[in-house]
Amino acid sequence: MSIEIVPLAQSDIPGAVDCVQKAFANDPYFRWAFDDPSKFNIHRNAASLAAHFQYGINCDCPISVAKITRAANETKSNDDIRLPAGTVVGVAWWYSPQPPSMTQTWSAWAQDWLLSFRQLMNNIRFLGRGGLNVRRYWIWKQVQKTAHDAIWQDPRGYYFCNVVCVDSNARGMGVGKKLMENVMETADRENMPCYLESSKGYPNVGIYEKMGFELVKEIECVDGGDVCKVCLLNWMFVLDD
Ligand SMILES: CC(C)(COP(=O)(O)OP(=O)(O)OC[C@H]1O[C@@H](n2cnc3c(N)ncnc32)[C@H](O)[C@@H]1OP(=O)(O)O)[C@@H](O)C(=O)NCCC(=O)NCCS
Repeated sequence: MSIEIVPLAQSDIPGAVDCVQKAFANDPYFRWAFDDPSKFNIHRNAASLAAHFQYGINCDCPISVAKITRAANETKSNDDIRLPAGTVVGVAWWYSPQPPSMTQTWSAWAQDWLLSFRQLMNNIRFLGRGGLNVRRYWIWKQVQKTAHDAIWQDPRGYYFCNVVCVDSNARGMGVGKKLMENVMETADRENMPCYLESSKGYPNVGIYEKMGFELVKEIECVDGGDVCKVCLLNWMFVLDD
């Protein structure tokens, strides 16, 4: 298959942003948090994602992209993906384990502030948050924190898969699995646990189960009559008793 998995480089950020935006356009959490499509500003959203990817690079997060490698003049077979070479067709963005007892380094602290500053600039440039329902965002954060505190108690911390997505043209071909394996093999060597979250129960939970994850809990973010369910999945989950 003419797809390579490589670490995210600065020049890949626009492609990675585009891939994430397309893959998550119908994601239940995205639709819940950006609940008024008429207010959604795709450029503000892209700027925010780009700032987060930059933060990920600056913080040495293990972020991989899947890129088409076929030469432009190569003959396309029926099975081939009809996208130009270099197109980003998948992203896996992980955070490395952070033991809760570990004090934040000065450089991590500085990167947090830099990200906040970039987001403030985005708010000014785009005159707001581009349609993000801020109340819902904080509901999600609170529900997520309560669940995390109760479940993810390993003192060594976890590899956390913040984002994984594959372009609809390249799904079901093993790209997602390869992207995930990049970090899961490291976690395996280090004997470290991993977790991820998905607001799309079907088919994602089944896909992640095939990768060795298991569903640990389903949380609900409720705002008025609108509910967003989020599945929390763990890999190498060890029960206390
Ligand atoms: C979830 C996602 C990243 C999976 O990537 P993918 O490249 O399609 O997955 P793979 O081809 O590597 O498949 C991994 C396994 O799941 C299986 N699988 C893939 N799609 C499936 C589906 N729709 N139903 C059931 N099983 C499926 C594959 O057969 C494979 O199993 P195997 O190892 O036993 O052969 C991708 O579908 C996606 O981007 N979805 C939209 C965005 C999204 O929801 N992201 C996740 C947010 S948490």
